[in-house]
Amino acid sequence: MRILTLETTCDETAAAVVTDQLEVLSSVVASQDELHYRFGGVVPEIASRAHVERVVPVIDEALRRADTTLDRLDAVAVANTPGLAGSLLVGLTAAKTLALTHDLPLIAINHLQAHIYACRIASGIDVFPCVGLIVSGGHSNLYRCDHPTDFTPLGGTIDDAAGEAFDKVASLLGLPFPGGPSVQKAAESGSSSAYRLPRPLLDNPKTLNFSFSGLKTAVRYLVVGPGKLPVGPLRITPEQVADIAASFQQAVIDCLIGKALLALEQTGFKVLCVGGGVAANGPLRQQFEQAAAAKGYKLHVPPLSLCTDNAVMGAIAVERLRAGQFEDLDLDIYPGLQRIG
Ligand code: KG4
Ligand code: ZN
Repeated sequence: MRILTLETTCDETAAAVVTDQLEVLSSVVASQDELHYRFGGVVPEIASRAHVERVVPVIDEALRRADTTLDRLDAVAVANTPGLAGSLLVGLTAAKTLALTHDLPLIAINHLQAHIYACRIASGIDVFPCVGLIVSGGHSNLYRCDHPTDFTPLGGTIDDAAGEAFDKVASLLGLPFPGGPSVQKAAESGSSSAYRLPRPLLDNPKTLNFSFSGLKTAVRYLVVGPGKLPVGPLRITPEQVADIAASFQQAVIDCLIGKALLALEQTGFKVLCVGGGVAANGPLRQQFEQAAAAKGYKLHVPPLSLCTDNAVMGAIAVERLRAGQFEDLDLDIYPGLQRIG
């Protein structure tokens, strides 16, 4: 069976063709980075307009690369939660149109569950039950994942997401968007112990929550001093930029590892799956590997192409297909987290 999966939750327009055996027949991702670059962050209206322009060519290309046609598909699946409302609507409308015109079953994808399912696809083995850590531009959440589509929230950020903090710190340091890769690159020549930045909530074993906004403010104070807005050219040297980037990156990694290990301890689970754009961070991947190995946990982190937004992870639709969980054409979008099922 062949399923077309669509992903337009944020600023990537993506389509893939996958089989019910989790084979990936094609994957196309049209990044919008160049459109949002000069704004230093994703502009929702620009993102949704770009999805409108790109969604049909991206679907066509995914079908072409899979050497298939709409008539030979068995289902169409689309991420309808969570995400930017305007962006979600474009993918959903495209999926409904295909479902209606080609008489295809329609399957809903939870984008966060899909980020964890990327570990299942990449590893080729069953990774459930596991603790799931999703670290992206919009989310930093810990879940107890009993099944691919049965997640119980354990904790999450009470303010900024980790990726959002990377993006904002990059902008404070005069580094280009998207911030994660540029902070990682700048950090390569810096020292992670140059500045002792806060690790909010890390020492509190009563919570599995994160908080990254104070960390971001601490970086701002290092760059411009308390109470001032960053205006004009940076007054810090490239060496200081590298040291601040490395110190900030380490603080985020420490918080994520600390809470993920605590979640494993509390659930008694032995498997940790990490997904989302921030999981593409090199030092984060290495340190998670070391931390998990030291405690005897099995760690799954997808390859870089399955960490950032993509439609391959939408193969989680196979789980719903097997369970006969299809949607009607009145399926809606859920920009927030109201619907995790
Ligand atoms: O999962 P994703 O592609 O989109 C969302 O669902 O948000 O994640 C995007 C986020 C951005 O904030 C980006 O800066 C961050 O992932 N990111 C990274 C790296 N690559 C992407 N953060 C840290 N290090 C990286 N190498
Ligand atoms: Zn994402």
